[in-house]
Amino acid sequence: MNQVKNPPDSTGPAMTIEPSPWPVIDDEVIASVVRVLKEESLSPVMQVGIIKEFEDNFAQFQGRKFAFAVSSGTAALDTAIHVSGVGPGDEVIVSPYTWGATVGCILHNNAIPVFADIDPLTFNIRPDEIRKKITDRTRAIVTVHIYGHPCDMDPIMDIARKHNLRVIEDCAQAHGATYKGRKVGSLGDIGCFSLQASKNLIGGEGGILVFDDEALFDEVVSWASHPMRQFQELQDKPLGKYIDSIAPNFRMHAVSAAIANVQLKRLDKWVVQRRKNLEYLTRALSDIPGIRPTCVAPDCEHAAHLIPLTYKADELNNVPLENFRNALALEGLETGSYVGTPIHLRPRFQEQRFWGKGCPWTCGHAERVVEYKKGDCPVAEKRCSGEELNLPSVGFHVPCNDYLDQIATAFKRAAKKALAGEL
Ligand SMILES: Cc1ncc(COP(=O)(O)O)c(C=O)c1O
Repeated sequence: MNQVKNPPDSTGPAMTIEPSPWPVIDDEVIASVVRVLKEESLSPVMQVGIIKEFEDNFAQFQGRKFAFAVSSGTAALDTAIHVSGVGPGDEVIVSPYTWGATVGCILHNNAIPVFADIDPLTFNIRPDEIRKKITDRTRAIVTVHIYGHPCDMDPIMDIARKHNLRVIEDCAQAHGATYKGRKVGSLGDIGCFSLQASKNLIGGEGGILVFDDEALFDEVVSWASHPMRQFQELQDKPLGKYIDSIAPNFRMHAVSAAIANVQLKRLDKWVVQRRKNLEYLTRALSDIPGIRPTCVAPDCEHAAHLIPLTYKADELNNVPLENFRNALALEGLETGSYVGTPIHLRPRFQEQRFWGKGCPWTCGHAERVVEYKKGDCPVAEKRCSGEELNLPSVGFHVPCNDYLDQIATAFKRAAKKALAGEL
């Protein structure tokens, strides 16, 4: 239940309701953690017990044959790139409009990120832009379902099949989102999820990969688990000879699995409610000048992990975003940008500084020069130049129309001030 902090009045700030806290740590979650603390190994290197139980439940939830739990979403992505056979000199096509780890996983494998621009409404990588970036060194595509909106996966998969590329979905923000009725994470070759504490499904920390290919399972175990689990799963298989404690060993903590396993039971219900609240807010914000609410493409269901809005200063007396944001803060509404600087324009890419000695860009396996400059991804760059106006989705997992009405009031008041020349 949302609580009224102070009764709203027409002179005070618009926001008086505290959103319902996220994540939800209820008695069942606590009991699950306590049980694991008392009854299971805290370092379950064979991945038996709660971790296996969570993996099985998550695989079933996703409709995938395999799920493999790891220490973070970043670890899941790193593993997915590695087991896809991507390495030095290989190119991977990715969006510049994302959390760094979507791109970092490529660099971590000494491969070269190649950026393709995004759609101006969904902020997701565009299939036609991907097509333009393919070279004979391209090995994979990483699609990030940013904010919880699914990428346009059918054309992306067509391109991938035509060019024999692996597709890795970064679903860190999109648990429960669907594309043409199918869950994200079940559309590409490997789906990667984060279970970090702000996400739609949380373990506190943690990540999980899902996929169908049995050969991939052996590769994942061989790369990302403790040697004891490798021994258990691989001793009679070809990869058994590499059980040597040298691979990264990104194993999950048992307590994360204990939390996530309970949270998973509520994920569907929570995502449906998040979506309803997003729809309500979209309607409430639809007539406010200078504010474009969140778009949802046909055939897609948003996971509403974050609520992206777009700020159009030219409709609001050219008031800079910062001033508008301050006016919202006076109403008690904190907003944020998200990406800030598109990844290809960040210093690491401008200076090509990662491993040192020029790697991966000038490593002996790189066969062509890949550079990053302003203008490479104009849509992402425009979004990051004073248009990113995002709302957190805290409280969206429960009905909260009163709270959403207050958000709309805060926006209306700030827009009125902007139009009156008061900002
Ligand atoms: C899109 C995206 N990818 C990857 C990650 C990385 O997940 P983690 O923090 O669990 O490593 C995040 C986390 O914020 C994310 O939002």
